[in-house]
Amino acid sequence: MSLVDSERRVLSGMRPSGRLHLGHYHGVLKNWIKLQHEYECFFCIVDWHALTTNYQEVGPISQHVMDMAVDWLAAGVSPSSATLFIQSQVPEHAELHLLLSMICPLSWLERVPSYKEQQDRLPGRELATYGFLGYPLLQTADILLYRAGLVPVGADQLPHIEFAREVARRFNHLYGREPGFELKAEAAIRKLGKKTATLYNNLRKAFQEQGDVEALETARALLKEQQSITLGDKERLFGYLEGGGRVLLPEPRPLLSEAPKLPGLDGSKMSKSNGNAIFLRDSNAEVEEKIRRMPTDPARVHRDDPGNPAHCPVWPLHEVYTSAETRAALQQGCQSAGIGCLECKGPLIEAVQKELQPLQARAADYQDNPELLRSILAEGAERARNEARETLTEVRLALGLNYR
Ligand code: TRP
Ligand code: SF4
Repeated sequence: MSLVDSERRVLSGMRPSGRLHLGHYHGVLKNWIKLQHEYECFFCIVDWHALTTNYQEVGPISQHVMDMAVDWLAAGVSPSSATLFIQSQVPEHAELHLLLSMICPLSWLERVPSYKEQQDRLPGRELATYGFLGYPLLQTADILLYRAGLVPVGADQLPHIEFAREVARRFNHLYGREPGFELKAEAAIRKLGKKTATLYNNLRKAFQEQGDVEALETARALLKEQQSITLGDKERLFGYLEGGGRVLLPEPRPLLSEAPKLPGLDGSKMSKSNGNAIFLRDSNAEVEEKIRRMPTDPARVHRDDPGNPAHCPVWPLHEVYTSAETRAALQQGCQSAGIGCLECKGPLIEAVQKELQPLQARAADYQDNPELLRSILAEGAERARNEARETLTEVRLALGLNYR
């Protein structure tokens, strides 16, 4: 059993919605691409999550999965730096979900805000199902299965991460308290050696008696460095710090990215269902056409009406794509009616096309070679499974499900 440094491990998941757009790229993927060089990253295409809302129409899901995988790779998610895989190819997600379902109070699930919201938002679908109610727990299993400490998500997902933390805490509380825990923890402290043991005891005291959070952090860092004690002892000592049992499943923390919001072609949130998206694999002609058709400041009815970029849906895109210099000139031209809107859109069209060009070249490599894509996903699933199996071995043991 290897020791997982959960603070260095990142997991995130995305529902297979098909081809990705610039909103995904700027809001999520660019962040992942940075993280993959700094952390041990697992990126999961959560096809079972798609079933929770789309079980009546499963046909398109598999194509959506493949399209999304191509777009991740096209955007620069690298199989040599990160593990990318399809959730259903790692059946351990289902086993952990099942085991966690035993300890998850129904009321916790009913309280998750997305439960009611989505039911109201998707009125045509029958969502009073077991699977839909349980999907935050499935997401919890996705994360805890890898003992990932960090989960990059958008603000809308924060309640789900908080939920996952509560489930982990409950699990550790129930199953991390083995008989004789305190004695075992005290024995483990002695194995640290005299100096480290004293330090650990002092830090633990400072946290437990004075609530000194810094002492807790220091003690955790100290434990992480210890090479000579077993994984089990390390988990005991992590748990003992806070007065609980072993930390079998560490509590994950959200990692909010401060990515700029990229609005869609009509100024509202870019999304496939809003029909206002520029897709990563849109051709140059499509990009040009979409941007040319974008509405602008409604005050500019005629070419010689002055406008105001602050009232124009094109402007936020300029803020992402063009330089401050270009923008200063365009702003001046807009306000003085010195330029027309098509002229203003020119540099934006070029910048988007230029950004997408290398992505599309990479996408073509995978589109032309489905075998390559399949082998990347199979390898990712294999790597993910190895980690998942290790967690489950411990989870089964903690639950007394070891019959050999
Ligand atoms: N529920 C997330 C969403 O709708 C997707 C997701 C599933 C996820 N499992 C995850 C995100 C695990 C982060 C970690 O966007
Ligand atoms: Fe918008 Fe540019 Fe037209 Fe001004 S000139 S209204 S900023 S598109």
